[in-house]
Amino acid sequence: MPTVGRILVDEVQIKRRVDELAAELGSAFQSRQPMTVLAVLTGSFIFVADLCRRLQIPHRIGVVRASSYRGATVDPSDLHTDLSLAPDVRGRHVLLVDDILDTGATLARLVREIAALQPASITTAVLLRKIGRQTVPIEPDYVGFDIPDLFVVGYGLDYNDDYRHLPYIAALEQETAAT
Ligand code: XMP
Repeated sequence: MPTVGRILVDEVQIKRRVDELAAELGSAFQSRQPMTVLAVLTGSFIFVADLCRRLQIPHRIGVVRASSYRGATVDPSDLHTDLSLAPDVRGRHVLLVDDILDTGATLARLVREIAALQPASITTAVLLRKIGRQTVPIEPDYVGFDIPDLFVVGYGLDYNDDYRHLPYIAALEQETAAT
């Protein structure tokens, strides 16, 4: 079982950055009403909960689902999205919030599918962006932190649904065999 390793982003850094993002988004969406925040489950749930409570403008909150990872492995062909839980976003300004941008496949697919629901606009925000991993050309409008290419857990991100509760972002470490 992998263990939690080095902390990459601590609690104080997360809080400060979420404050900044909420202020920036508040200004940007002042003229973009009505607003709907769509959280990509499951990984973004803590980020969205913190962000929304600091957003000083009225907004609806809804969820969509995306899954591609099984543990620490990735198979891009195994990407599943589900918009069936999303509220009606037609004519609304959508802020799509995900936990992490890795290859970009998830965000790109969701933007395409949400666009088909005819929102007034779509803005994207991710808490984390892995450096050097993007293979799908999509630039999030807002990024919390750029991080190295490591599998990370905490603050909503998981390994087999473990570690989501950690208040910081840490690298997952494979246990090395005892010698
Ligand atoms: P793509 O490649 O589509 O991946 O940009 C985005 C989704 O993959 C998951 N992901 C991770 N989850 N630690 C995690 O807990 C990671 O290091 C990691 N990298 C990617 C995540 O669900 C994200 O929405």
